[in-house]
Amino acid sequence: MYNDNPTIKGLNKTIEIDRQGEVFFQETAAPGNKYFYIESYGCQMNFSDSEIVGSILSEVGYQPTRNMEESDLILINTCSIREKAEDTVRKRLRIFDKVKQQRPGTLVGVLGCMAERLKAKLLDQEKLVDLVIGPDAYRDLPKLLATAEDGDKGINVFLSREETYADISPLRLGSNGVTAFISIMRGCDNMCSFCVVPFTRGRERSRDPFSIVAEATDLFNKGYREVTLLGQNVDSFKWINPETEEKVNFAHLLEMVAKVAPDLRVRFSTSHPKDITDEVLHTIARYENICNYIHLPVQSGNSRILELMNRTYDRDWYIERVKSIYNIIPNCAISSDIITGFCSETEKEHQDTLSMIEFANYSMSYMFFYSERPGTVAAKKYEDDISLEVKKRRLAEVIRLQNQISYKSNQADIGKTFKVLIEGDSKKSDQEYKGRNSQNKMIVFPKQEGLKPGDYVYVKISEASSATLRGLISEPALQTIQ
Ligand code: 5AD
Ligand code: SF4
Repeated sequence: MYNDNPTIKGLNKTIEIDRQGEVFFQETAAPGNKYFYIESYGCQMNFSDSEIVGSILSEVGYQPTRNMEESDLILINTCSIREKAEDTVRKRLRIFDKVKQQRPGTLVGVLGCMAERLKAKLLDQEKLVDLVIGPDAYRDLPKLLATAEDGDKGINVFLSREETYADISPLRLGSNGVTAFISIMRGCDNMCSFCVVPFTRGRERSRDPFSIVAEATDLFNKGYREVTLLGQNVDSFKWINPETEEKVNFAHLLEMVAKVAPDLRVRFSTSHPKDITDEVLHTIARYENICNYIHLPVQSGNSRILELMNRTYDRDWYIERVKSIYNIIPNCAISSDIITGFCSETEKEHQDTLSMIEFANYSMSYMFFYSERPGTVAAKKYEDDISLEVKKRRLAEVIRLQNQISYKSNQADIGKTFKVLIEGDSKKSDQEYKGRNSQNKMIVFPKQEGLKPGDYVYVKISEASSATLRGLISEPALQTIQ
């Protein structure tokens, strides 16, 4: 596949474009080409954004490389959600500095939430950084690159109310060719008091659903068999057709994507307990290819803490949503995000989080201790008064309980047969495949001739740890759980 217009003007130079078929990563740079290296941290949305950045760069003659030592441009797509995430980025910048010293002329750019949060301050703090670009400004990259190549610093941290990158076809970086992310909306309007995201990613906006369906169709035609629809709060997806004034909500969108092909699995993340509707749950139940898995962050199991967090639901509301999920989709797995040691949290309130983990029977959770973020409502209004020691002890208790529950839930799967989408070789052996069931559990099983990534197989589970299921391909498929 060669670009039929092999030269384009950009960056004050004429650059030869040679896309070399479907090969996205080159081990060594061919002369005449420019190479970019990109690292992504944080949420799935950042990984998805990096693929949009990759597409924009490929339009101006850059190819991706896995080898930062040979790249002309090093980018880091950053996360600000906790202090630790920012510390990691700063450490990586020290490493990039070494590469830059050995290869003068290499440009270094900071993208994403940390760029947005710190803006020009980042250029003062980190002298090696040439480019600072916020999540809504990636279209400006070619222009900013030209500025940086002329020796100036390039910065754009403008947040948009409209940008959804709907027309940009992402360059699938490091893809397994089977599963892909599709970003369906950007920003967040929720203002949870602990969270920096509304400040770094701006106001919520939904993408044109027809462009989402087109992207899913294109992926399916290229052999992909699973898409994950991404947004900070997918349940508040809302798009109004400018011509017909018809409203498209998240349930409608799920249905539209599910109809692309019965063999295309549909996942989505993240759901918000205040917004997830029974209409969404019934849509999931109706379509075999919409996965029975909901990531429904609770954050805390205590109503007073939820109020301080401005989550706009209480414990009873959350419990009712969980009950509805298990009623309407009996085989559904639910996972969560949990924060321990939020401002003023008592031991008794912490116990409410533990009991919620048990009640909801989460298949897994992402668990954190509270990290105060500058500029958030919690930082302004509440004292960060739980000691690090207590935060960490509570976190350890949460993790221990979640591991027990995950282990029990996985043990209960022994003897069951699941439909699994093969994603590739298992981490440990090229004699085994790995894939997921509808409930998003990772399953490892010995390979069988004639099967390849992207195929569906039925696997009967014979062993389970708290993280992985193991089994054998069943022949013929017995009673199956989708
Ligand atoms: N401290 C700890 N965890 C946080 N999260 C968001 N902000 C913070 C913070 N300040 C967690 C929440 C959210 C997940 C993406 O990160 O659980 O759902
Ligand atoms: Fe942050 Fe809350 Fe928005 Fe999630 S829903 S991104 S936790 S403000």
